[in-house]
Amino acid sequence: MCGIVGYVGQKQAARILWDSLSRLEYRGYDSAGIAVLNGAGVATIKCKGRLKDLRERLSELPPATQGIGHTRWATHGVPSDTNSHPHHDCSGDIVLVHNGIIENHRELREELARRGHNITSQTDTELVAHLLEENYRGDLLQAMMDTVPCLEGSMALVALHESEPGKIVAYREKSPLILGLGEGENYIASDIPAILPYTKKAVVMGDGEFARVSRDAVEVFGPDRKPVSREPVMVDLKPEAAEKAGFDHFMIKEIYEQPEALSRAISGRVRGSSVVLEPGEYGLTDDQAAGISRIYLLACGTAYHACLAGKTMFERFAGVPTEAVLASEFRYQDPLVDPSVLCIGVSQSGETADTLAATREARSRGAMRIMSVVNSALSTLAIEADDVLYQRAGPEIAVASTKAYTTQVVSLALLAVRLAVARGRMTPHEAAAFTRELKELPAKAQTALKLAGEIKELAKKVALKEDVFFIGRGADYLAAMEGQLKLKEISYIHAEAYAAGELKHGTLALIEDGVPVIALMNDPSLAPKTASNVMEVKARGGWIIAVGTEECLNKLELDGDDVRLVVPATHPLLSPVTSVIAMQLLSYYAALEKGADVDKPRNLAKSVTVE
Ligand code: G6P
Repeated sequence: MCGIVGYVGQKQAARILWDSLSRLEYRGYDSAGIAVLNGAGVATIKCKGRLKDLRERLSELPPATQGIGHTRWATHGVPSDTNSHPHHDCSGDIVLVHNGIIENHRELREELARRGHNITSQTDTELVAHLLEENYRGDLLQAMMDTVPCLEGSMALVALHESEPGKIVAYREKSPLILGLGEGENYIASDIPAILPYTKKAVVMGDGEFARVSRDAVEVFGPDRKPVSREPVMVDLKPEAAEKAGFDHFMIKEIYEQPEALSRAISGRVRGSSVVLEPGEYGLTDDQAAGISRIYLLACGTAYHACLAGKTMFERFAGVPTEAVLASEFRYQDPLVDPSVLCIGVSQSGETADTLAATREARSRGAMRIMSVVNSALSTLAIEADDVLYQRAGPEIAVASTKAYTTQVVSLALLAVRLAVARGRMTPHEAAAFTRELKELPAKAQTALKLAGEIKELAKKVALKEDVFFIGRGADYLAAMEGQLKLKEISYIHAEAYAAGELKHGTLALIEDGVPVIALMNDPSLAPKTASNVMEVKARGGWIIAVGTEECLNKLELDGDDVRLVVPATHPLLSPVTSVIAMQLLSYYAALEKGADVDKPRNLAKSVTVE
C-alpha cells in the first residue's frame, strides 16, 4: 500500500526521502514521487514505475532541507505519472501526499470543478490539495483542520506550503502515521522501517490527530484542535522485523491485516444500502447485464476457492447460471462462450499464467466482456481486462494467500449485488440487508482473530496428525476447501475437504480413533444435517473440531477432546470469510509447530507465471 515519508532538518532532503521510501518498498507500489521546499519554492519529481527510476531524477531537484515523499499503490486512477503523488493545488503552492481512500471523492470533484479548480489527475488525493487551497488563510495547519471535516474515508495526509518553509503538517485518520524525532531534524512516516536508520525515537499519532513538524519541534493536536502532549516511544526493531510490523512472519501479519483490508475493499463501494462501482470497475450497461446467459469465474488456487463462494452469490442474487472453473482446465473443456457470456478473471497477482490464458481464451471465443478482480495494480490481468475491481488488500508477500482470499470473496460479493440490482433481481430491501452484513464484516473478522490463543494451543495437537478432514455443507463446504488447502500447503499435513453429506459415500471408511475432522457450521438452515454427519464421525472415534456460529454449534453434542471454535454470525454466503480466518490461524500455528518455513513453503511460488 502507499508509503509516506517527510523530512525537515539540515541535511539534503531528497536523498533521505528517497532512501526512506526505498525501505517501504516491501509494501508494494506502482509509482513514486518526492517534493522538496527551499527558499525558492516547491520542486517535485514523480513517475509511474520503480523507485530506481526516481533515483535517476533526484539531480533535477534543487538543494533543500525539507520535503515529502510517497510510494503509490493505485486505488483511484490508473498508475501514471500524473496520478503519482505529491499532488498540488491550482497555484502549486501546496503539495500533498496521502495514504487511504477519500470516499466522498465524487461529490468533492464535482463541487471543486464547479468552483473552477483545475483538477489534473484522476486521484482522490488531489482534491484534498484543492480543498486546502480554499481553506488556506496563512496557516497550513489551520487549513488542514478546516479541510478534514469535509473528508470521508481513511487518510494519512502530509502537506507543505511554499509560504511556510520549515514546516510540515500532517493528519491521521484510520491510516497510520508516525513522527520520528532526531537532533535538529524530524521525520514523518507511514511505517517504522522508513525512519529506522535515522532515529529510534518516535511519536505515534492517534486517529483524528494533527501534527506540525519543524526542525526543532513536533507538535500534536487532538481532534478538538487543542495541543496534545505525547511521550515518544523507543522503537526497538531490526529493519526486517519492522517490515513485518513486529510479527514473526508475513503470513501472520497478513492474517491480522484482514479487518483493515476488508474495510478498504468495501470502502466507498457501499453507499447507504447500494453498491456503487466506478465505470472502470464495472462497465456493463443495464442492457448487457439483462442479457447475460452465463458467467464463468476463472482462477487458480485460493482465488478459485474465492470464486466458488462467488458463484453462489451470482446465482442466488443475480439469477445467472455461474460456473467457477479452474483456469488451468478452462481451455480443455471447450467452454460455451459466446457474446452473451460474461467472464471474470480473479487473481491476486494478476500474473498467473493459467488465469491469463483462460481470460484470453474467453476473449478469443467472443465473450461479452472480460471483467476482473485483481490485487496488483500494474499486473497483466488488470491491464488486459475490460474492467478491474481492485481488491485493495495491500501487498501479499507470504506464499499462502490469506487476505487476498477474504478480499476476493468480498469483491465478488460487491459485483454480484451490483449485477443483481442491474438485472432487477434484488430488491432494495434485500440489497440493504446484505450490504449491512458486508459493512459489518471487518469487525467480525477482528472478532474471529481473537481465537488465535485458543487455536495456537489446538495446533500443537493437530500438528501431530497425519491426516485432517474438513467437512461442511453449502458455503461451509466451499470454505472447507480453502481450509484444507491452507493446512496442507504450509504444514504439509495431508488434508481433504468433503461435502458433509458425501462422507458416508466413501471417506467415512478412513475415520478411526483420533482422526481430526474439522466441521464447519455457519448456516443455521444446514446445521442440523451437518450435525448428523458429525455424529457419524464421532461414532467412529473421530476427533471433532467444530468451527462456526454459536447458534449452529449448539446443535452439536460434543464431549471429551472435541473442540468448539465460535466465529461471529454473518450472512451464510459471507461466512467463508470468518471461518477461513480461523483455519488460516490453525494452519499457521500447525506449520510453526512443525518447524516449516511458513512464508515460503517448499515447492510453491507466490506468483505462478508458467502453465
Ligand atoms: C499460487 C499461490 C496461491 C494463489 C495462486 C493463484 O499457487 O501460491 O496462493 O492462490 O497461485 O494466484 P493468483 O495471484 O492468481 O491469485
